[in-house]
Amino acid sequence: MNISLILAAVALVPQPAKLVETGGTTKNAEIRYVTDAAVPAEGYRLKVAADGITVTSSDAAGRYYAGVTLAQLKDGETWPCVEIEDAPAYRWRGAHLDECRHFFGKETVKQMLDLMAQHKLNRFHWHLTEDQGWRLDIPGYPELVKYGAVRSASVRHGQRATKGSKEDADKLNGVKYGPYFYTEADIREIVAYAAERHIVIVPEIELPGHVFAALAAYPEFACVPANMASREPRLVWGIEKDVLCLGNDKAIKFMEDVLDYVCRLFPGDVVHIGGDECPQVRWKDCPKCQARIKAEGLKDEHGLQPWITRHFVKFLEARGKRALGWDEYLLGDVPKSAIGMSWRTRRQGAGHALVSGAQAAVRGHDVVMTPNKFCYLDYGQCLPNDPFQYIGGKLPLEMCYSFDPCADVPAEARKHILGGQCNNWSEYTWNEYDLAWKMWPRTCALAEVFWLGDAKPGFADFKKRMATHRGRLIAQGINCAPLE
Ligand code: ACM
Ligand code: ZN
Repeated sequence: MNISLILAAVALVPQPAKLVETGGTTKNAEIRYVTDAAVPAEGYRLKVAADGITVTSSDAAGRYYAGVTLAQLKDGETWPCVEIEDAPAYRWRGAHLDECRHFFGKETVKQMLDLMAQHKLNRFHWHLTEDQGWRLDIPGYPELVKYGAVRSASVRHGQRATKGSKEDADKLNGVKYGPYFYTEADIREIVAYAAERHIVIVPEIELPGHVFAALAAYPEFACVPANMASREPRLVWGIEKDVLCLGNDKAIKFMEDVLDYVCRLFPGDVVHIGGDECPQVRWKDCPKCQARIKAEGLKDEHGLQPWITRHFVKFLEARGKRALGWDEYLLGDVPKSAIGMSWRTRRQGAGHALVSGAQAAVRGHDVVMTPNKFCYLDYGQCLPNDPFQYIGGKLPLEMCYSFDPCADVPAEARKHILGGQCNNWSEYTWNEYDLAWKMWPRTCALAEVFWLGDAKPGFADFKKRMATHRGRLIAQGINCAPLE
């Protein structure tokens, strides 16, 4: 008997919650499906025996995940005989993709969805708008993709540029990038593709910051329209000071039109409205924004972001969606129905023991945990001779596996932790090979964390299974990085 075949038979990723090998193998591919309301959502029971295979679930997702497990169990023409009882620890098991700094396109997105499904990930967070690019065609706003989806240059490979200084200008490559964007037909195709794999797409439209590409298309929506004279997205990385003018009703109507369309185009229950890294300097000096502050009885420009967040949380609720946003959008008086996406690892406030996501959960917000220290796959893998460029930081495979979405969260607030997500920012990720290398195998580790929670069996056990599982990824042509 070939040892590698035995290994392959039991190397499941993520590991099921309960797995018993009952001995022997079977070639009997007959599958009997049973519905049992007692099986938890997305969970399944799977029995592989000499007389065939039985899949029991309460929903279609559970049935689908039993199929994913069966595909990993299959070894040539045979399956090992097993009894599995399995269900996810967390209901939000996400992966994010930034298509704005670099654009990957439909085929790469579909491949990512295939791989997500193979790891029982169920939320695709699609970062579609940014300072450096607007990637979604919006009816009634043709200038968005005409100006916002193309750059005259990008930061040269191997360089770093975030400020737009004279030195940074020397680091641009002078190569036209785009136009790259998705049409309504593209989106409908990808939404359907995701749904077949039990993945819900969570579109992200950034506001009120990270909107420079939209302002390039419609300079009148900025506090200082003259700053958009070049009529193109931001060319370097980093945080842009020109943000949406919240004193301008037409700028707010523009975002409403975009989000109204997005609500109709994407059937999922959640829409991400960004909210991170929004400088307030333009608002401070803008007569329109200052007039808004006065009219709304806000204290100063710090009140503007919570004001617009409240507006769009309600706007989305009226369309049957829940709002999701990065840590910063929960600062201030924001409805508890707003979901937080926690990316900052830093502990908040002097002597305060909780990171921002944990604080939000304590205040009663549902939270998706995606702290950069554990979940940002543009951080370095610490591999010898790694050929790819990273934004910085260190995130080796074992660190991903050590992630606990409920760490720092008091027991009584843990019910608010929906789950976790890996984030694929693309300032320094140029193409699908680069992306795959950064995603895999680290996404396997995070997928196991999100599926098993505290029941994960430990890094040594994971790594042993990964030796086989990495082969499955490589066999699909995936540029999976080594395990160390
Ligand atoms: C973020 O990384 N700015 C959400
Ligand atoms: Zn303004």
